[in-house]
Parts: sequence; C-alpha cells; structure tokens
Amino acid sequence: MAAPLGGMGAPHRPVLLQETLKYLAPERGGLFVDCTVGLGGHSEAILKSSPDTRILGLDLDPAALEYSRERLASFGKRFRAVQANFRQIETVLDEAGERDPSGILVDLGVSSLQFDSPERGFSFRFDAPLDMRMNPASGPTAAELLQQLPETEIARIIFEFGEERHSRRIARRIVERREQGQRVTTTAELAELVRAAIGGGRKRQQIHPATRTFQALRIAVNNELEGLGEFVETSVDLLAPEGRFAAISFHSLEDRIVKRKLRILSGLCECPPRLPVCACGARKVVEILTRRPVMPGEREIDENPRARSAKLRACRRLELN
Ligand SMILES: C[S@@+](CC[C@H](N)C(=O)[O-])C[C@H]1O[C@@H](n2cnc3c(N)ncnc32)[C@H](O)[C@@H]1O
Repeated sequence: MAAPLGGMGAPHRPVLLQETLKYLAPERGGLFVDCTVGLGGHSEAILKSSPDTRILGLDLDPAALEYSRERLASFGKRFRAVQANFRQIETVLDEAGERDPSGILVDLGVSSLQFDSPERGFSFRFDAPLDMRMNPASGPTAAELLQQLPETEIARIIFEFGEERHSRRIARRIVERREQGQRVTTTAELAELVRAAIGGGRKRQQIHPATRTFQALRIAVNNELEGLGEFVETSVDLLAPEGRFAAISFHSLEDRIVKRKLRILSGLCECPPRLPVCACGARKVVEILTRRPVMPGEREIDENPRARSAKLRACRRLELN
C-alpha cells in the first residue's frame, strides 16, 4: 500500500461524510464519479451504501490512486480509478465507456496524504522543498513560480488567492532575495520570509502568518480555480435525470464559483435588468438541494479541525422533456 501517513497528523477523515451521502443518495445505485478520490474515504462509503453502486474515481495524484486502489480492492470491479484532471471528466467517462452517472462528487483541495507528506512541500510544518504540485510529474513547482514570475504577478496571486492584505510586501521580499542571487527553495524559507515581511501577528492570532501565502501558492501551482465553473456545468450536463452533484470546497473563492454556477443552472439569471437578452447562460436544469451551504458541526470540527472551513453544496438534475 502507498506509504501510510507515517504517524503524522490525523489520518484522513472524509469531510461532511453523512451530509454528502444524504445529498448524493447512493442507495439509488448506479455509477458515481468521485472526481477527487484522494484516500478513498467518500468512495468507500458510497460503495458500502448499496451493492449496486460503482465508482469511477479520478485524481491527479498517483500516490492517492495507489492508496485508494489498495484500500478499495475488496470491491473488485465496482471501483476503478484513473489519473486525470476532473476538468476532463467528459473524456474520462467516454474513454471508460460510461455514461449517465447517478452522482458526481468533487471534494476540492488537498488530502492528508499530501498535506502530511513532508516531501510534497504543501505545509510549513515540515522543512522540505517548496513543491506543492498535486501531480508531481507536471508543471512548475511553487519554488519555480517564485523564481520565474514578476513581482506584480506574485503579489496578485498572494492577494487574490490568499486574500492576504500584505501581499505586496511579501512579493517585494521574495524578489529582493532573487536580486541578491538567492532563491526561496524550501517551505521553511518561505514561512520565515513571510513572517519577517509581515510580523508574527498578535500572540492570540490563530493562524500562522504564512497560512494565506501557502494557500495562494498552492492554488496557483495547481490552477485550482481555472475552469471550475465550466467543470460544474459539464458535470451537471453529464448526469442522468435525477442524478445528483455535490461539491465540497474549502475556501470562499471556490465556494463562490460553485454557488454562482449552480444558481445559473437552476435558472436564476444574474444579468442586469436592462440587458435585452440573457448573457449569463441561465437555464433551469437543476434543483438546488442546499439553500445554504452545509457546514460541519462542532463535533466534526473537534474531531477533525481541517474540516472547519468546509462547505457542501448539492443539486439534483431535473428530468427535461
Ligand atoms: C480533499 S482530497 C479528497 C479526499 C477524498 N474525498 C477522501 O475521502 O479521501 C482532494 C483530492 O483531490 C485531488 N485533486 C485536486 N485537484 C484535482 C483535479 N483538478 N483533478 C483531479 N484531482 C484533483 C487531490 O490530489 C487530492 O487527492
């Protein structure tokens, strides 16, 4: 089996598991696409909910695929997993000879396997090369981005994706280092640079000063927001009538995209009133099942603090004439 979590941190617990099952309703049977199979926690629960469910799992990370395939081997052919970006869901389904899924789940963000593996460079809790790629074979690392991008672009990324108000100061420090012929190559170097740029914060501040910068870089390295809205729309279009779509997001930028797209797909036009024709693409193809985002209760947050920012939204595909 892929390396276990080495005793570091809590093992991965599927976030909002009961709530996700409630909205996906896997007891109906059929094919479910787990777009972010990770360690297979949600997949396992879906497979257990009915002998008639099958899963097609996707993940960018080969280590996650190895882990989940091993974990779910006892389900035989009912679980298949492929290395793919969920933005390619349509092609993946085609190539697998599948259509009309009963449900599609996306659980965005990083898994514990990634976050707790020092060598992946996602966390400042360990000193390691500043990598952060979900697929370690593809694209520039976070260190390479910091070496290549202009100062204004680094500042934009940290501001937009990290909602960090000191973004310019941090970008300046990074580029100053470059100008001195030094690179930021490790997680500890970046964490220390951010702390030096913006201070340690008040004693009672709950998060490390580098948290927002690390989040921003991870989003940029993995292009996490690009095409997310299109993915939601494609998924809804692929669903069988009465099929369910569920998305779990971990920061407001993702949640905003999912929320907006689901509203548009439920027929709510968001164009200004004076526009002669609708330009936002509103069409009524789903019923939104979560009027408000579903969030973990206190008990789940106590047991799994990483769940604290999770938000679940779900919809049901309408039967169209
Ligand atoms: C929060 S974890 C999923 C955990 C999973 N639900 C479980 O119960 O174990 C997110 C996973 O999504 C994967 N991922 C992130 N972006 C992806 C993308 N665009 N396409 C495919 N997989 C992606 C990550 O590699 C990670 O394994």
